[in-house]
Amino acid sequence: MILDVKNLAVSYAKNDTPTIQGVTFELDEREILAIVGESGSGKTTVIRAILNVLPGGGRVSEGKIIFDGRDLSTLDGEGWRSLRGKDISMIFQDSGAMMNPVHTIGKQFVEYIQTHSDLDKQDAYNLAVEKLTMMNLPNPDNIMSSYTFELSGGMRQRVGIAMAITFQPKLLLADEPTSALDVTTQAQIVGELMFITRGTGAAMIIVTHNLGVASYLSDKLIVMSQGKVVEAGATDDVIKNPKHQYTQSLLASVPEMGRRRYV
Ligand SMILES: Nc1ncnc2c1ncn2[C@@H]1O[C@H](COP(=O)(O)OP(=O)(O)OP(=O)(O)O)[C@@H](O)[C@H]1O
Ligand SMILES: [Mg+2]
Repeated sequence: MILDVKNLAVSYAKNDTPTIQGVTFELDEREILAIVGESGSGKTTVIRAILNVLPGGGRVSEGKIIFDGRDLSTLDGEGWRSLRGKDISMIFQDSGAMMNPVHTIGKQFVEYIQTHSDLDKQDAYNLAVEKLTMMNLPNPDNIMSSYTFELSGGMRQRVGIAMAITFQPKLLLADEPTSALDVTTQAQIVGELMFITRGTGAAMIIVTHNLGVASYLSDKLIVMSQGKVVEAGATDDVIKNPKHQYTQSLLASVPEMGRRRYV
């Protein structure tokens, strides 16, 4: 097992009722877990808690997160620095927005690699190019000398994913990685994420509003509502036999074409 989340609760404000509560799930190596749920249900809070990057004074108020056999609450600053971006990395909704617009992608990618390794500049550059190539980015040398605003949304997202997989993380956390993209690009990137995780053996948690994406990619599915897990199980089981009303309504909103429902 790579990740064991037990009875997790997160509170944002002191003495307030926890924003999420009783969140429990397990993830094995190579497994993909999708988290779906209405806006504000706590999906982002779950993955930020795993990475210990909760904003607004948020803190884990109950429960445990065990990653690769280690209780994450015992890590100090140095422990987090060596874990984040290396063993666990994050893919954001808009990777371009996370990067600095006044520096080239190459400068930032090389810096990122050098922060997490002993590679010299040339080796770091070569590694970056290798990862961009893995993400089907044509002419990676050209990408390295570009600025984020010069790339399309899909290309920026591929750069973000390339960076996230640089050190072959054991766990990838993806918060709506395709929702800022048009449908065609979305489908391509979902396919690439699938290919990458299967190829590198990384486990992944993907937050998505798109049940089609969840169904295509994930082995397991969690449905959240108002800070709690209201449904969990093997993705196919949850989709074939939704018990919670929210899951049923999500499924009902997936377009049906012909007699086939596209989930
Ligand atoms: N920075 C913050 N400070 C205080 N409370 C917050 C903060 N971020 C989130 N919350 C609280 O946590 C709740 C859940 O937020 P979260 O971002 O986890 O939801 P979500 O499921 O990811 O929603 P969305 O689908 O809109 O991204 C919010 O409704 C809010 O009450
Ligand atoms: Mg969110």
